[in-house]
Amino acid sequence: MRRACVIGTGSYLPTTILSNEELAARVDTSDAWIVERTGIAKRHIAAADEFTSDLGTAAAQRALTAAGITAAEVDLIIVATATPDQTFPSCATVIQHKLGMVDGVAFDVAAVCSGFLYALSVADAMIVTGAANTALVIGAETFSRLLDWEDRTTCVLFGDGAGAVVLRAQTGTGTSADRGILAHRLHSDGRYNSLLYVDGGPGSTGTVGKLRMKGREVFRHAVNNLASVMTETLAAAGVSADDVAWVVPHQANLRILEGTAKKLGLPIERVVVTVDQHANTSAASVPLALDSAVRDGRIKSGDLLLLEAMGGGFTWGAAAVRF
Ligand code: ACO
Repeated sequence: MRRACVIGTGSYLPTTILSNEELAARVDTSDAWIVERTGIAKRHIAAADEFTSDLGTAAAQRALTAAGITAAEVDLIIVATATPDQTFPSCATVIQHKLGMVDGVAFDVAAVCSGFLYALSVADAMIVTGAANTALVIGAETFSRLLDWEDRTTCVLFGDGAGAVVLRAQTGTGTSADRGILAHRLHSDGRYNSLLYVDGGPGSTGTVGKLRMKGREVFRHAVNNLASVMTETLAAAGVSADDVAWVVPHQANLRILEGTAKKLGLPIERVVVTVDQHANTSAASVPLALDSAVRDGRIKSGDLLLLEAMGGGFTWGAAAVRF
């Protein structure tokens, strides 16, 4: 059986850190409010001359090094982003060029915070059908450029960063046959555009626009949608919540992570939490969390992982992966 296996992970965070205290000097908020309501302690902000493609390229290079392969072996790049350098060409082709590649397939997917799950699912399908053999799946964002820095209800929640995985087709038998992406499920429902959107773009104001969100309503949908798609994905993979070694969630808010884990009957100790370190990095947050837990040794070869995310659209999804 042909499966897409994760053979390397990588991530990158810009060097500039913005603390809760520094934000409290700009807007009417406090470290105590942000920590209590979200679990966020700090976020990283890209430099003025640092773009989404730079963050994505750095994460991709680290993932390639971890996989022990060169960019020349990659035949597919999918970048999940809502903050590409340019409206077009895709951020994926910019990263492809920065990696020194001159062939292969490269394109972006737009599903905001769920983007990495969407990109992973498309890459998996292309690998399983034989359309690709070795894929870089990247989540990269510079949400700092979409924020209204005078709106305390949104500017405290987000940060910049990138994460990447290398997927490779494997057709092993025996133990290696159990590894790889076992199942994924995606959903979207466009009725909820007005709860989380950017108020600009080429088709509206002609400007980039700013992120707008009704946070409390997004929160309510998030826990229900995530618990539902996680349950659906576990069933599709033929495994149960008890089999899951680590939940690797989209890092939006610690309370969403706790609420979702509780609904599945999973202890928070089996959830990878990085939201405190870099806030919500949209499509980058799942691969950032994955890379962090791989590098610190929590995630080990053979572990069953449950990846999940929800974001603007609404879009949401999950994937069961034997690491
Ligand atoms: N500092 C201080 N006070 C604030 C701040 C702030 N930064 N932001 C809002 N408040 C105030 C509000 O004005 C409100 O005051 P009021 O009661 O006088 O009107 C009060 O705090 C409570 O506001 P709520 O919005 O009800 O607070 P809530 O507990 O819902 O927390 C939050 C807000 C953190 C945005 C939460 O709703 C949330 O995390 N929602 C999910 C949003 C999200 O994660 N979106 C990302 C994309 S989707 C996803 O990734 C899942």
